[in-house]
Amino acid sequence: MDFTPPPRSAWSIQDDITYLNHGSFGLAPIVVQECREEWSRKLERNPMDFFLREMEPALDEAMASLSKFVGADPRDMVFVDNATVAMNVVAENIELKAGDEVLLNDHEYGAVFRIWRQKCDQVGARVVSARVGNFSDPQDSTNDSGQTNMTRRVVNSIFNAVTDKTRLIVVSHITSPSAIIFPVAEICREARERGIPVCIDGPHAIAMRDVNLTKIDCDFYCASLHKWLSAPFGSGFLYVKRKYQQRLKPHMISWGRSLGGRDERWQDHINWLGTRDPAPFLAVPAAISFLEVVGLESFRSWTHEIARYAREKLERLFDTKAWVPDSPDWYGAMIAVPLPASDVKKAKPNAMHPLQQQLWERYQIEIPISECCGQSFIRVSCHLYNTRDDIDRLIDALSKLMA
Ligand SMILES: Cc1ncc(COP(=O)(O)O)c(C=O)c1O
Repeated sequence: MDFTPPPRSAWSIQDDITYLNHGSFGLAPIVVQECREEWSRKLERNPMDFFLREMEPALDEAMASLSKFVGADPRDMVFVDNATVAMNVVAENIELKAGDEVLLNDHEYGAVFRIWRQKCDQVGARVVSARVGNFSDPQDSTNDSGQTNMTRRVVNSIFNAVTDKTRLIVVSHITSPSAIIFPVAEICREARERGIPVCIDGPHAIAMRDVNLTKIDCDFYCASLHKWLSAPFGSGFLYVKRKYQQRLKPHMISWGRSLGGRDERWQDHINWLGTRDPAPFLAVPAAISFLEVVGLESFRSWTHEIARYAREKLERLFDTKAWVPDSPDWYGAMIAVPLPASDVKKAKPNAMHPLQQQLWERYQIEIPISECCGQSFIRVSCHLYNTRDDIDRLIDALSKLMA
């Protein structure tokens, strides 16, 4: 591929480590960090001027850039600290009663399960987990009919678990432990036909995919921006469909109005959460422009190619098969490959998998190993600072550790 990514020195990444976990904790390029620091310095120069006069127009400007990037109307979005906060706001606003069901599935993120279990427990509702499992079938090639079959299998496995008590479907855009791109537009289309709202858990999709929220047409979309967009930690957003906005309650109570004297907006409850420093939000346009200057398509194909290289090498080493078809429609910059059966579930509950621990302690390689559907996966994240050399180092270390 005829493309030169920015040098590793564009990030402040520690010299002597191999960082293959942008998916959990994404680091921001130095220019983005500097932009965030400059906004914090501005606040410190005259906090009263900043909070009362500067902050709201600056947030509007940052949101104009972000909403354009994700194909939404800025009036339907609000900045929040991360996807976790966004999901908590949604949980605060879904009315449930005893017997109701919230439908997740077996690829969803652990903390998201906890949020919904707690919400359901409060009222005697319950979380149902649809069984999606390993839906890819070697019989299906990645041509159009194979794609349609696989998409149908994912959608069917979710809707097979829908009942007349289902009040909400919560689904990842890109799953965390298995790194699979879920067909969210199809899921939303089918849910609309049945009158069930959908909340998409989307932190991995922002920048990794060309996200268009207008086309997806979900009810809620939750995202962190420190992941693939590489905005600062502490930046995320919540998208809310119009019909829910006016009565939207925040997850935390503050003034609930503009302190700058602006006309009321639904976002006021969430924009003003005491004297929170909004610098991470205000640096989001710098992160967008960093990737746009690199070229979004180049970013996507470069990182996918490294993930694909990792997939081939890991499949050969472990003699296992990734659960996704080999196509950029199903995985992007992140790939999860099952560990061999002998290494499954060797981790004690709440402990790091021993292989993950040894990769760090002996080889300074940061990479997660997690569980999904009773299977342990190693998940490789590839951003612009990663190269095939990182993957070769990983394979070399794993070969020695597993010998
Ligand atoms: C699918 C998914 N949802 C939600 C989250 C939570 O993101 P954050 O910790 O940035 O709030 C993560 C984090 O890895 C995730 O992978």
